[in-house]
Formats: sequence, structure tokens, C-alpha cells
Amino acid sequence: MTKTEKYEGLLRQARSLLSGEHDEIARMANLAALLHSEIGFWWTGFYRVDGEQLVLGPFQGPVACTRIPFGRGVCGSAWSERHTIVVPDVEKFKGHIACSSESRSEIVVPLWNHGEIQGVLDIDSRELAAFDDTDRRWLEKLSTLVYGPQKDIWFAAGCFWGAQKFFKRIEGVEFTEVGFANGRVANPSYEQVYTDTTGHAECVHVRYNPESVSLRRLTELFFKIIDPLSLNKQGGDEGTRYRTGVYYDDEEDLDLLSGIFLETRMALGVNEMPVELLPLKNFYRAEEYHQNYLDKNPGGYCHLNPELFKLV
Ligand code: SME
Repeated sequence: MTKTEKYEGLLRQARSLLSGEHDEIARMANLAALLHSEIGFWWTGFYRVDGEQLVLGPFQGPVACTRIPFGRGVCGSAWSERHTIVVPDVEKFKGHIACSSESRSEIVVPLWNHGEIQGVLDIDSRELAAFDDTDRRWLEKLSTLVYGPQKDIWFAAGCFWGAQKFFKRIEGVEFTEVGFANGRVANPSYEQVYTDTTGHAECVHVRYNPESVSLRRLTELFFKIIDPLSLNKQGGDEGTRYRTGVYYDDEEDLDLLSGIFLETRMALGVNEMPVELLPLKNFYRAEEYHQNYLDKNPGGYCHLNPELFKLV
């Protein structure tokens, strides 16, 4: 069984195990037990935000430190940096907090709830480099079950700086990050993608609460901010990395998305439209300076017409 097949099965089990239980501690407890027993990690558990600290929550494995300050250790860093941290060798992570000397590698995934981080999922392994991009993707997905419901979709809408600024403003969007989707090279740098030879599209990963915002609304907004008839060119940016597309990880979204693509083509009166609709094959988070770029650089380049931001 591949790692992906294993996680697919776990996600199904976790969904049914947690359905009907709204208490977050109970959900964390069973999720930790399921992950721990099925994958055999060394330590699997949760820390919850309590003021300026994280406090130990439900876990499986040896005893652990009970409190971790904001920005400290891998857990506190994932909280302050607001993204998943994968540590291939804990000894090389400055400030790592060693609860157990047996732990060699670690992954920490933030838990988002209504746009705020409320805790983290922390997993330790006794093997070096036990966690890769596949673990990251699936553990993020599994962790959304704690405060769920949450779903993911990936939009390639030209330069990802402006696209992220647009999508993160939408009510019901829990989290966004920019990166490179559906290319041929693992972990590409921005410079590599910029050569236009790696096959990636600049893309925004959007995690949303489907009870607050629908996939239909997100996709319709996507079509409002792109030129759906322009091939490999949006605004002033040109190249296959600026192609447009919607990439999904849930087969059940395909019918709805195909319907919106068809409606859009009919409204435009065209038989063909160079906008991709594909399963997400891979997504690599871009370098930190690209994340929330236009928040960090308010006057920075944005290919989107400022009027479009009034839509959200
Ligand atoms: N290593 C973590 C502390 C928690 S234990 O791994 C359970 C850290 O550096 O935040």
C-alpha cells in the first residue's frame, strides 16, 4: 500500500469516526489515537492555544512538555509563522524542544478555525526525515477535521501575489498560501519556475469553510479576476507559469466545477477556453517572501485591477 493509499483510508476512517461529535477535545483525542495506531509514529498529539502559550492536548506516546511559548520550538514556530513546519532532523532545528531524546524528525501542522490558529498537530518520528510533502498534504487535510468542515481548492490566476490578496479577503476563507502546482520538478524555487521550464503554474491554495462560502462562489470569483480567453498571459505576465486553472483534490467537486466551466464558456460564446480543470497533482509552497507579498509590500506589483477587490 502506498503512503497516499494509507492516508486516503485514514481520512475516510477519521471522517466517520468524528462525525456527529462536536467537542474539539474528543475529536483531537480520537484523531491522535487513529493516526498513532495506524501509522505508528513515535508521538502524535495536539497542543492548543492558551493565551501566549500552547498547552498540551490529547496525545499518544511518551509524556511531553505541557507548555510551549509562542514562537518557541517547532510547535511555537509553526504557530507564529502560520504554516506547517517539516523538520527532517530535529538536531538541526534551532530552538527545537526535546520532549523525548528518541525523537529524530518532526512535523507540526497549525489548526485553523475562522481564520485563526487555535492549536497545532505535532507528530514525532524516531526515524530521520520521516515526513515529506505527501505527509504534509494529508496531515493538513486530516487536521482540518478538528475544527471542520474545511475544504481545499487551488486556483492559478496569473501572478500569485495579487491572486492571494484577492482570495484571502473572502469571508469563509480560512487560510491561503501561494506556491507552484502541477509541475514536473519537486520543490522548485521561484527562480526555477521563472525559467518556465518546470511545468508549474503559479497558484493559490485556498482552504475554506464550505458552510460559510461555497466552491461555486469561489470559482465564480476566480473567473471574474482572470481573462479566461488569454493563453499563458494574465495582465503583464506571460509564460506557462501564468496559465490559468482550477485544481481539485476531491473528485466530488468535479461535477460542480465542470458545470461552472460550461456556464462560463456558454456566456462567452466559445467552444474552447484555455483554463485548466484538473486534479491537483502536486503543490509546493513558495518561498516565505512570496507569502502575503502584497501585505508585506503594499505598493508592490499587482496585476489585478484595483476595482476587482470591491467584489470581496
Ligand atoms: N518538539 C516540539 C515539542 C513538543 S514534543 O515534540 C511532543 C517542539 O520543538 O515544539
